[in-house]
Amino acid sequence: MQKTLILLKPDAVQRRLVGEITRRFEQKGLRLAGLKLVQAPRELAEKHYAVHKGKPFYESLLTFLTSGPTVAMVWEGREAVAACRNLMGVTDGVKAGPGTVRGDLALSVQNNLVHGSDSPENAATEIALWFKPEDLVGYAITD
Ligand code: CMP
Repeated sequence: MQKTLILLKPDAVQRRLVGEITRRFEQKGLRLAGLKLVQAPRELAEKHYAVHKGKPFYESLLTFLTSGPTVAMVWEGREAVAACRNLMGVTDGVKAGPGTVRGDLALSVQNNLVHGSDSPENAATEIALWFKPEDLVGYAITD
């Protein structure tokens, strides 16, 4: 089953939206495989956002991601990467469609509440950055 990394970024925690956002992933039918609250050190933020190094918003993005605790989650399910990105909406909260996390709850490009891996390959890399293998739990959902 495909796995993806989802981060509820510091703005989600500050705005007390952790429950609201997590509910949407649960109700979609995805299975939670890992969950932790992390005060990300700069080194972790740099590794996570390495692809954006050199972009004008890079430093601000690192400051944002390290500004407070982040909820890191691994969700599992059929096409979990695409399913989660559809739930999140596009990067810019203004452009994100209604019904999506960002479309309903965010107005900013940077402070857009959630991060989701953009491919199964990147999901594997990102999950390894935020979780030890033994932190992930596999189990059956009986419903
Ligand atoms: P995320 O999906 O985590 O991936 C990269 C992040 O960089 C993105 O969400 C935003 O938080 C941020 N970002 C992307 N584009 C911009 C931009 N033009 N200005 C500021 N921040 C951005």
